[in-house]
Amino acid sequence: MAELTNKQVVIIGGSSGIGLEVAHLVLAKGANVRLVGRHLDRLATAKAGLEAEFDTEVLTDCVDAHDFAALEEWFSSLSTFDYLVSMVGDVMGGGFIGAPIETIRHVMDSKFLTNVRIGQLAAEKIAQGGAMVFTSGTGGRAQDACASYVGNLGINALVEGLAVELAPKARVNAVSPTWTLTTFWRDMPTTQVEQIKTHFEQTIPLGRTATVHELASTYVYLMENDFITGQHIAVDGGIMLG
Ligand SMILES: NC(=O)c1ccc[n+]([C@@H]2O[C@H](COP(=O)([O-])OP(=O)(O)OC[C@H]3O[C@@H](n4cnc5c(N)ncnc54)[C@H](OP(=O)(O)O)[C@@H]3O)[C@@H](O)[C@H]2O)c1
Repeated sequence: MAELTNKQVVIIGGSSGIGLEVAHLVLAKGANVRLVGRHLDRLATAKAGLEAEFDTEVLTDCVDAHDFAALEEWFSSLSTFDYLVSMVGDVMGGGFIGAPIETIRHVMDSKFLTNVRIGQLAAEKIAQGGAMVFTSGTGGRAQDACASYVGNLGINALVEGLAVELAPKARVNAVSPTWTLTTFWRDMPTTQVEQIKTHFEQTIPLGRTATVHELASTYVYLMENDFITGQHIAVDGGIMLG
């Protein structure tokens, strides 16, 4: 297993939710962390909390990964790093017939093409023996989350392709969460969030939704295990088995 001590970990989407928990876990293992997000206030809150807890500097960069010019400029400013985590990927609900084409295009751009560009740019900066971990997803079906479903398939293909193209220098994998209570749902009314959570608790064979720790620790596992590449690991309580 790879040692994370003193390794450079870049987390695009590390200012909240699953990515922030990944930051906690790798800092606890002695890694150095750089967090990326779009909101300065969220980055500042995450940085202050982590620095107080771990007594080490946490770097932050405010970049919108959807803006390819900004993304390219930011990557060009980076030195070599060991690990890259991407949490980027907007979602949608609804089937192909009813969904506006603009929504489908946005989700495909956000979930798939943005991560393709991140993978291309990270390939130039990843260190020998490093790894990338992207975010796929499970639980949705083509008829109820059409572009998210295709985007997740795209991420699964992306990690397969990049894994072969980058081997043996670096590894590439993805984690597939299903619906999980995180800050991702901060703009949704609480009663609606509770209804969705109950629905998933009744649908998931294991009878509950994931903890953020269960998801984040899988990203760390994929950083540490040196013999896994091109895989997507579902952390979903078996939701797709029914
Ligand atoms: N939670 C779920 O139910 C669930 C289920 C399946 C898959 N996922 C996927 O898991 C990922 C993370 O979800 P989460 O629950 O941890 O959500 P979250 O708490 O909202 O965290 C998302 C993180 O990504 C950053 N981010 C999002 N878009 C970005 C962009 N274009 N450029 C730069 N940073 C960006 C956010 O920063 P800002 O806040 O500053 O934008 C934040 O740091 C998402 O891709 C989501 O689709 C989540």
